[in-house]
Amino acid sequence: MSTNLSTSYLGLPLKNPLVIAACPLTQEPDTLRRLEDSGAAAAVLPSLFEEQIVHDDLAFSDAQDFATDSFPEALTFFPEPQEYRTGPTAYLEMVEQAKKAVSIPVIGSLNCTSTGGWTSYAKRIEQAGADALELNVYFLATDLELSGADVESQYLDAVAAVKQSISVPLAVKVGPYFSAMGNMAKRLAEAGADGLVLFNRFIQPDVDLKKMDISPELLLSTPGELLVPLRWVAILRGRIDASLAINGGIDDAEGLLKALLVGADVGMVASTLYRHGLDHIETLLDGLAQLIKLKHLESVEQLKGSMSRENCPDPAAFARGNYMKALTSFTGPAI
Ligand SMILES: Cc1cc2nc3c(=O)[nH]c(=O)nc-3n(C[C@H](O)[C@H](O)[C@H](O)COP(=O)(O)O)c2cc1C
Repeated sequence: MSTNLSTSYLGLPLKNPLVIAACPLTQEPDTLRRLEDSGAAAAVLPSLFEEQIVHDDLAFSDAQDFATDSFPEALTFFPEPQEYRTGPTAYLEMVEQAKKAVSIPVIGSLNCTSTGGWTSYAKRIEQAGADALELNVYFLATDLELSGADVESQYLDAVAAVKQSISVPLAVKVGPYFSAMGNMAKRLAEAGADGLVLFNRFIQPDVDLKKMDISPELLLSTPGELLVPLRWVAILRGRIDASLAINGGIDDAEGLLKALLVGADVGMVASTLYRHGLDHIETLLDGLAQLIKLKHLESVEQLKGSMSRENCPDPAAFARGNYMKALTSFTGPAI
């Protein structure tokens, strides 16, 4: 009997649990088609960034102010806002083209750091045809006066504002750096998140010793990064009213299977495709089907969450339980 890989995410029925994470691979219709042909069940488009929207709004109003100041009739030379070919406009065109190119669900992605006028773009991404929206919140509290509670409110306000403006499902992608991740996840769901993408991967600045400068560098993920989302999805599974996606460190079929076992509805991948090529999607899916068979199971739905904190034989392993044991039983190389 063949393995049934179907799942659902954000209320969308998917043929399997492999979703392409937000990254430039989903940007071009041709590549998107190849991703679909290789078996991807859905794709998240790269993000439209709050800075792009704010910058373009400013650029547009600056252009108008300049024209008004010099000679009012010149205003007619400026294109109407809807014709203005800016970052956000190009983004909406990308959504439209993506929808035309493939039949799998296409998820738009909006990056933000705060609430503001940019939320109107959530609606526009929906109108351009996106089947769902992923809100990628990337905020770093460098202001020492800002408390954790203030930051959390900022996240929740952004989610509520976006949720109010769209009718397609909303996923929220956040980083793991909250002091009470579980409570935050619950409140994000209550604020309107239909799904959580765990986790956003913050790009860390490095010191470039040659240039004596700071260089933020995008590094591809490593499989070890899977452990943090595995733990949190295991803890959250069955306890919040939201779909769960694991994103970060899935590199092989085993990683994808682990994500599902702890309770993810889907696994999202980016780095592994940059590392191994787009055909790796087939390897991941074939491998997953084989592993499921080896476990004498028939479907993804059957195994989803069977190793979550609530269902696994040793729930303490997901809490502090094995911390001391792991430290004290470590046998590293002799010094
Ligand atoms: C080249 C590249 C570009 C990315 N661009 C975005 C983006 O626009 N928006 C976003 O939310 N995440 C972006 N990401 C992060 C991925 O969506 C994903 O969260 C991260 O790479 C972890 O998944 P992975 O371990 O499978 O790579 C990007 C990642 C890569 C490698």
